Amino acid sequence: MNATAAASPVQRPLFQTIDMLTASQQRAIRAIAPHDQAQVPAIEARRPVSMFTSDAFFQLEQERLFRRQAVPITISARIAEPGSSVAHDGYGVPLLVTRDKDGAAHVFLNACTHKGAKLLDGCEVAKGNRLTCPYHAWTFGTDGKLIGAARPETFVNLDKGARGLAELPSREAGGIIWAMLDRHAEPDFSGVDEQLAADFAAFELPDLHVYGHKQFHLNANWKLVLEPFLEGYHVQRLHARTVGPLFADVPNVVDTLGLNIRQISGKMQFTPDCLDIPGENIHASVTHAYNVFPNCVIVTSPYYISVMFLMPTAPDKTTVDYFMLTRRPPDNPKGAELYRKSYEMIIGVFGGEDFYAAEISHAGLRTGAIDEVVYSGLEATIPLYYDILDGVLEK
Ligand code: FES
Ligand SMILES: [Fe+2]
Repeated sequence: MNATAAASPVQRPLFQTIDMLTASQQRAIRAIAPHDQAQVPAIEARRPVSMFTSDAFFQLEQERLFRRQAVPITISARIAEPGSSVAHDGYGVPLLVTRDKDGAAHVFLNACTHKGAKLLDGCEVAKGNRLTCPYHAWTFGTDGKLIGAARPETFVNLDKGARGLAELPSREAGGIIWAMLDRHAEPDFSGVDEQLAADFAAFELPDLHVYGHKQFHLNANWKLVLEPFLEGYHVQRLHARTVGPLFADVPNVVDTLGLNIRQISGKMQFTPDCLDIPGENIHASVTHAYNVFPNCVIVTSPYYISVMFLMPTAPDKTTVDYFMLTRRPPDNPKGAELYRKSYEMIIGVFGGEDFYAAEISHAGLRTGAIDEVVYSGLEATIPLYYDILDGVLEK
């Protein structure tokens, strides 16, 4: 865990009210039916097991999606201050994510231009406008320019201007940084959506405090890790002993924002009337769950936001970067205790229940016991997601 208590000059309110959200979010929230009037459709939807287990499908996803379209890399808040850098290895490609002294975010290949050494290792955020290679001490700016080489007089024709770090096309919007993993591919940022960025800006995602970060290495296909965040069917069952009783067994209000999906649902105590109580914490009665296409999940809770990047490294291996973001650093013992308990709880629920479910599901699918997975009306967002995925893979 990387819990920090750095002081923030911003004392934003501890929670949000409905009026702080976008018109589109408010419209979706007001479309939530009272639980006793919610209609769960019956559906027939199936998907072949091979899309989770086969090498061929994994290769297809890598070629047509992960290497051809910009993918979410990390949160802006991870490198909040100008002059910040962090290594990022989740996709199996060593990356270096920086914010330069002018505040622009960059994503580089994490390879020194002398002899390829990784400039940074581990998961700590480095502060400062310069990065010095541990091998022979070449120094780079956070903008990727080569600033200096040790003993420069011993090189003939060393063109410093041509030896900057290899940069990947990237974009930052709504507190998320996207990049093309293949820098030679035609840049495609079709997953970055204005409405999505506006929703996240309404959550103040770019400026939230990174309370905790944990990395998980899972033995499951990345889409099996994603699926529980696209459906409510499992919530009262898998999470029966933890958070299940907080959630109602009803469908979400679902919208697509470009390739991304927004799901909004009322918690157990939700009634349409509670939206009109002045000063109410909107995240106490309503849950937002987003899929940032294809593999990032954002879930709201009353006092924090969870952001997860599900990064495939093999058909049956996924690295998850989990971040818990709070609206402020803990600044009093009661707040600190609330955040500590929330972090422990959410790591237990996501790690010990959702990720566990993905692993046991993958283990069972690999046996060949079934050829197809079937989805219910309470899982209807999963086939919707796969229709979007198919559209991209078929391009
Ligand atoms: S490999 Fe970086 S300075 Fe030599
Ligand atoms: Fe879950």
